[in-house]
Amino acid sequence: MRLAHMASWALALTVTPSLLLARVHPFGDAGLTRPAAAWARIPPQTAMPPEVRNLLDAKCADCHSSTPHAPLYRNFAPVSWLLERDILKARAQFNLSAWNRYTPEQQETLRAKMVAQVRSGAMPLPQYRLIHWNASITPHDLQVLTAWARSSSMPEDTSQTGSPADAARGRAIFEKRCTGCHSLTKAHEGPPLAGVYGRHIGSVPGFPYSAALRSSNVVWDRLSLDLWLTEPQDFIPNSDMDFRVPRAQERRDLIAYLQQVPR
Ligand code: HEC
Ligand code: HEC
Repeated sequence: MRLAHMASWALALTVTPSLLLARVHPFGDAGLTRPAAAWARIPPQTAMPPEVRNLLDAKCADCHSSTPHAPLYRNFAPVSWLLERDILKARAQFNLSAWNRYTPEQQETLRAKMVAQVRSGAMPLPQYRLIHWNASITPHDLQVLTAWARSSSMPEDTSQTGSPADAARGRAIFEKRCTGCHSLTKAHEGPPLAGVYGRHIGSVPGFPYSAALRSSNVVWDRLSLDLWLTEPQDFIPNSDMDFRVPRAQERRDLIAYLQQVPR
């Protein structure tokens, strides 16, 4: 009797503050305790194949969408705080509920980043997979995502005819389609690209290249860059870049630009 009494006090003393604290949002309010929204997390009119939508809805949308399905532990601080922090950070990267609002270039970059994150095992977050064991990624999931990333919204064009290479146009393409992962002078997901033309592959000191890239023996020139940008995984299998430029004219323009960027 006495023991049961003490136990209920102990419970009240720990659970009640935790419940109250869950109403406080030190990292920002991710909307966990709002009533579940009536709309779908990834609306049906979203421009993506149904198979992809189901996969992202099941395994990514708890963090990367406006309407997380918060489980019971949303009510308990500090777990709720950690969850909120993750959701806000995840949403800052991309929000699947607003997918149609991204430009085609942003979508293309995000698709490539999703493949890279999933293949490396970084996403879904490991602590999330501990709780949601069914959110683990299967080889089939990876195939679905990879096929989606490769199905470019830009039509394929392999013609060698067209206008002469134009570095100004190349610069505009670089700004739109490469800067999601690269800058000229700093390392992001990809290595800095100033002076890449004429550089040995995988040679920026300190950049965490894939083993595939590090062990390759290539100097970046017009031909190697063209092959790499056409299909990186064909040119260097198992490399970490999942991004293609299917149009020959755009590759020529990009290469002309990279060629004249000083180191
Ligand atoms: C438990 C929450 C959670 C889940 C589930 C989750 N993510 Fe994330 N994701 C995050 C957080 C947090 C970040 C931001 C990491 C940072 O800023 O350091 C992130 C960032 C990312 C990024 C950007 C990485 C970068 O550095 O550019 C990609 C891409 C991504 N997630 C893809 C996915 C995909 C694909 C899934 C589903 C297979 C997924 N995530 C599931 C929490 C999550
Ligand atoms: C989704 C992210 C992403 C996008 C978008 C992207 N890249 Fe990359 N890129 C990478 C990563 C990651 C690597 C390192 C690959 C490795 O280590 O296997 C890389 C490597 C490279 C390299 C080799 C550099 C070296 O030091 O050897 C070149 C060249 C390159 N990218 C060019 C481009 C160009 C041009 C674009 C735009 C058309 C582009 N990339 C778009 C992620 C990206």
